[in-house]
Amino acid sequence: MLAAGLIWLLPVLLAPPLTMAMVQGLCAALISHLRRGPVWWLPIHLGFMPLAVLALGLGLPSWVWLAGFALLLLTFWRTDRSRVPLYLTNTLASAVLAGLLPAQPVAVIDLGCGDGGLLRRLARARPDCRFVGFEHAPLPWVWAWLSCHRLANVEIRFGDFWSHPLGDYALVYAFLSPVPMPRLWDKAKAEMKPDALLVSNSFAIPDIQPESTVEVADGRRTRLHCYRPGAEPG
Ligand SMILES: C[S@@+](CC[C@H](N)C(=O)[O-])C[C@H]1O[C@@H](n2cnc3c(N)ncnc32)[C@H](O)[C@@H]1O
Repeated sequence: MLAAGLIWLLPVLLAPPLTMAMVQGLCAALISHLRRGPVWWLPIHLGFMPLAVLALGLGLPSWVWLAGFALLLLTFWRTDRSRVPLYLTNTLASAVLAGLLPAQPVAVIDLGCGDGGLLRRLARARPDCRFVGFEHAPLPWVWAWLSCHRLANVEIRFGDFWSHPLGDYALVYAFLSPVPMPRLWDKAKAEMKPDALLVSNSFAIPDIQPESTVEVADGRRTRLHCYRPGAEPG
């Protein structure tokens, strides 16, 4: 409405669609800023509509946009609901995580295993342990399944990890986002054994003191927050 009002006041803005799109982007960014939206949304607000107008100018056939949407959906699935996008644990963090595994053979689960890269590295480092990965996004799941099916100690499962019990695992690994952490804590507390370790890459559980936090010497100073939810009272 703000953009429409501005254009109504200054009809000169109406002429090239790109100018109109830029006015819309500016208004969206301004409202986002005033409503204290995350800073990283500002360039998205500013750029989205102008880029959409420029892209339309390319005159691509309409199936290209549908194909792009399908590709994004198959890769990221319902991030609007899960609030967890796809990004991957790097090699250094995987090696540090391998060092957190108990010395004896145990079962480990990666909640949302992405392309399965972390599980592949862990499975090679610890052939005596059993690794399970859950993934609900179709393309990463296919990738993980194909790249892990030769490893006898890795099982890649398709589906929602929230409905999978965590009682069998000595280590539960999560690299999710801030949004599901309170729910994950409740699930882990109810299901994990007292001596089992919950390791969360980057995202701490709000208001819960970790048993330890391990800093990885990688470029982004990855932090692995370690908890024993099953040992918590209540
Ligand atoms: C940030 S990525 C981490 C990938 C992998 N664990 C790693 O560390 O390399 C999170 C993954 O969790 C998946 N995911 C999110 N919610 C899920 C759910 N409820 N069930 C299964 N997978 C989920 C996403 O599709 C995404 O691939």
